[in-house]
Amino acid sequence: MATSTLGMITGIGAAMFFRKKKNWLKIHKMVNSISFVGMAAGIVMAFYYVFETGDEHINGVHQIIGLVAFTSAIVSIFLGFHQFKAKNKLAIRLAHRWLGRFSLLMFLTAIIFGLMLINII
Ligand code: HEM
Repeated sequence: MATSTLGMITGIGAAMFFRKKKNWLKIHKMVNSISFVGMAAGIVMAFYYVFETGDEHINGVHQIIGLVAFTSAIVSIFLGFHQFKAKNKLAIRLAHRWLGRFSLLMFLTAIIFGLMLINII
């Protein structure tokens, strides 16, 4: 999950600060899509771990924020692809931007609560 978050930061960083380079969209698309797959794998592993240990699912702040982050990433990636074909391109583009930023903020918050959960901070 931490590696995928670094990927999200890199991909979004390309969209925010390297727009003048001609490859920014290719990089953004590829890095964010790969990071999204990594996130999905992490979520599956976390669910499986909780299932195996017999604990309760989604029973804390880290888990809730992580789920909110992942759900907004699913919608963001959909909007990312959809914005090129949509009738209301500008609205979809704006929604993609803001939801993408929000999901990154939620991923970073989930990391902080995750580190608190394992007593590192
Ligand atoms: C989970 C995956 C993704 C996330 C979290 C994400 C997030 C973001 C964010 C935060 C921005 C705005 C950067 C800024 O200016 O502040 C952005 C811009 C953009 N993204 Fe993504 N993105 C994702 C996937 C994709 C994909 C798959 C595509 C294309 C197929 C895409 C296409 C674009 C485009 C075209 C822009 C520029 C929009 C504009 O001109 O305002 N994104 N993305």
